[in-house]
Amino acid sequence: MNKQNILVTGGAGFIGSEVIRQLVNDPSKHVVNFDKLTYAGNLENLKSVEHQENYSFVKGDICDEELLKKVFSEHNIAKVIHLAAESHVDRSILEPLLFVKTNLIGTANLLNVAKTHWNGDFENKLFYHISTDEVYGSLDFGTDLFSETTPYDPRSPYSASKAGSDHLVRSYYHTFGLPVVISNCSNNYGPFQFPEKLIPLCINNILNNKPLPIYGKGENIRDWLYVGDHANAIITILENGEKGETYNIGGDNEWSNLELVKILCRTIDEKLDRNVGESEKLITFVKDRAGHDLRYAIDANKIKNDLGWSPQYQFEEGIKLTVDWYLDQAEWLENITSGSYKTYYQKQYG
Ligand code: NAD
Ligand code: DAU
Repeated sequence: MNKQNILVTGGAGFIGSEVIRQLVNDPSKHVVNFDKLTYAGNLENLKSVEHQENYSFVKGDICDEELLKKVFSEHNIAKVIHLAAESHVDRSILEPLLFVKTNLIGTANLLNVAKTHWNGDFENKLFYHISTDEVYGSLDFGTDLFSETTPYDPRSPYSASKAGSDHLVRSYYHTFGLPVVISNCSNNYGPFQFPEKLIPLCINNILNNKPLPIYGKGENIRDWLYVGDHANAIITILENGEKGETYNIGGDNEWSNLELVKILCRTIDEKLDRNVGESEKLITFVKDRAGHDLRYAIDANKIKNDLGWSPQYQFEEGIKLTVDWYLDQAEWLENITSGSYKTYYQKQYG
C-alpha cells in the first residue's frame, strides 16, 4: 500500500503527541515526527506508539533548512502539520527573540522547504499551520467571541510571533499557490501537558502542597478544550479542510482562572479523600502577568457547520480524566521534575 507521508513538527510536545497518537491508528498514514526536543519536547509522550512501523522520529530544528530538505526527500512528504513552536506566554516575556526565531523564522523556513520540494506539484499536498486564538487579542468581559474574521491584534511576543507566522502561511497561499490551511484554537488541557501551564502546574502543586500562584485577581477568562478534541479537529481539517481557509476551534467553555483552580482543588480533594477546602488554602495571589489578556472565547461555528466537528468531552469529564492521569502518571511528572526525561532520546535512539 502507498502510504501518505505526513510530517508533524513539534510532535514530542503536548498537542503534537496527541495528534500523533491519533494519526498512527490509520495504517494508510506514515507519520514523521520532527522535533528539536527543547525543554518542552518529551519523547516519553510517545512511548505507546514509538515501535509502530508507521511512525518515525527525526531530531531537528525547523530553522535547519538542509535537514528539512533531506527529510522531505527521504520520506517524500505530502502533508505537513506544523505545531513546533515556543508556546508559553510567560517565557515569551522573558525571551522574546527566541519566539521570533522559532515561531516566525522557523515557519518561514519550513514553508520555503515545502514550496521548493513540491515544486509546483500541489496535488494531494497540504501545509497545515496550528495556531492560537491569542492572535485576535483580548476580549472584554461579556459575550463577544473571536470569529475567523476578527482582526488580528496580538499583544504578547508569543501571540505576535504566531500572528506573524499565520501571515507568512497565507502569503505563501496567495503568492505561490501553496495549499495551506490554518486553525486557531483556544486553551487546551489534558494528559502530557508540561507542568508550566496553569492546569498541570496547579495539579502538581496541589499534590505537593505547594502554593497555587494566581496572577492578579484570577478574573481573566480562558475557553478550555480537551486536547483529544483539538487533535480530532486537526485530523478533521487535515482530511476535509478547504485550502486557503481558517478554522477557529474552541470548547464553548469559559472559566475564570480562579474558578478553574477551585474546581481543580475540589476534584483533587475528593480523589484523595482530603477535607473539602483543604487544597483551596494553597491559592496565592501573585503579581499579574505583564500585558495579561483579559478574556479569550471562540466562535467555533464554522468548523462545526462546514466540517461536522464538535467537542466530545464535557468539561467535568475532561478535568476528571486529566486529574486521574496526573495522579496515575506520577513517574511522568517525576521524570520532568528531575530532568531525567531529557535522557530518553539517548536511551531509545542512541
Ligand atoms: P509544547 O510547548 O508542548 O510543544 C512544542 C513542541 O515543539 C516541543 O516538542 C518542542 O520540542 C518543539 N519545538 C520547539 N521549538 C522547535 C524547533 N525550533 N524545531 C523543532 N521543534 C521545536 O506546545 P503545545 O502546547 O503542544 O502547542 C503546540 C502548538 O499548538 C504550538 O504551535 C502552539 O502555538 C499551538 N497552540 C497551543 C495551544 C495550547 O493551549 N497549548 C492552543 C492553541 C494553539
Ligand atoms: O489560548 C491559547 C493559548 O493558551 C496557547 O496558544 C498557548 O500556547 C498556551 O500556553 C495557552 O496560553 P495561556 O497564557 O492562556 O496559558 P497558561 O496556562 O500559561 O495560562 C492560563 C491562564 O492562567 C492565563 O490567564 C494566565 C494564568 N496563570 C498562568 C500561570 C502559569 C496564572 O494565573 N498563574 C500561573 O502560574
